[in-house]
Amino acid sequence: MEALMDTKIYFRASREAALKAGRMLKDSIGQSSEIFYKGTVDLVTNFDTRAQRMIIDHISSRFPDHDYLAEEGLSQKKGAEFRWIIDPLDGTTNYAHSFPVFTVSIALERNGEVILGLVYDPMREEMFSAVKGEGAFLNKKGIKVSAVDDLNKSLLATGFPYDIRTSEVNNIAHFNNFLTRAQGIRRCGSAAMDLCYVACGRFDGFWELKLSPWDMAAGALIVQEAGGRISDFRNEEFTIFGSEILASNGLIHQKIVKVLGVAS
Ligand code: IPD
Ligand code: CA
Ligand code: CA
Repeated sequence: MEALMDTKIYFRASREAALKAGRMLKDSIGQSSEIFYKGTVDLVTNFDTRAQRMIIDHISSRFPDHDYLAEEGLSQKKGAEFRWIIDPLDGTTNYAHSFPVFTVSIALERNGEVILGLVYDPMREEMFSAVKGEGAFLNKKGIKVSAVDDLNKSLLATGFPYDIRTSEVNNIAHFNNFLTRAQGIRRCGSAAMDLCYVACGRFDGFWELKLSPWDMAAGALIVQEAGGRISDFRNEEFTIFGSEILASNGLIHQKIVKVLGVAS
């Protein structure tokens, strides 16, 4: 009972933090941002860091003993039972170009297990969420994965790593293989959004490599709680610290694994 109450408190705090940061990002899109390059194409803007500050201030003022791991360098590691995993702006390249497809992603781990996930798309005012064992939701409505069982009729999503120019492990061969086997492929530019779209049935499957824990933690739980399947490319156990993610409605999972095997 107490644990359930606590989860509600954590959920409310993360929702407030996501709304606050998301609204700031929505209001600021199109304003010229300061862009810093982490690599040739990997960028970060002042809005990523501002959103991160807002989220961490909100959460750490309520739960000062919790740890957190956030993309833009703010982390606290004290060996706490709870750790927040935060991507303050998933879709930075889109955002820097005023392309209105981006999300805020917040997850909570308890003793290494993700127990809560929340992904907010402020442009569409869509809040995807899940608490472990309690189903997945879009705003307040329950969601579930699609029923498409034919790869030919499936809409898939993917993304490409920032080292695409320098590494041969770059997803291009997989992308080519799916082009002629799926109904369509989309590259949204926000992995957290891609995962939520699998969860609510807009996409039937999603694969990507070289993502980070903050890209996947919340979205992966939301897919699982919506009845979907998450694994690595060989259909083995998924971890948010691994380098591959395959998410699907479950029905086409093995078919995707087979195509991923063609280029491995
Ligand atoms: C990126 C997005 C993108 C994915 C990249 C990620 P960022 O996150 O999720 O869809 O393809 O690999 O790094 O940098 O915008 O937070
Ligand atoms: Ca990200
Ligand atoms: Ca980010």
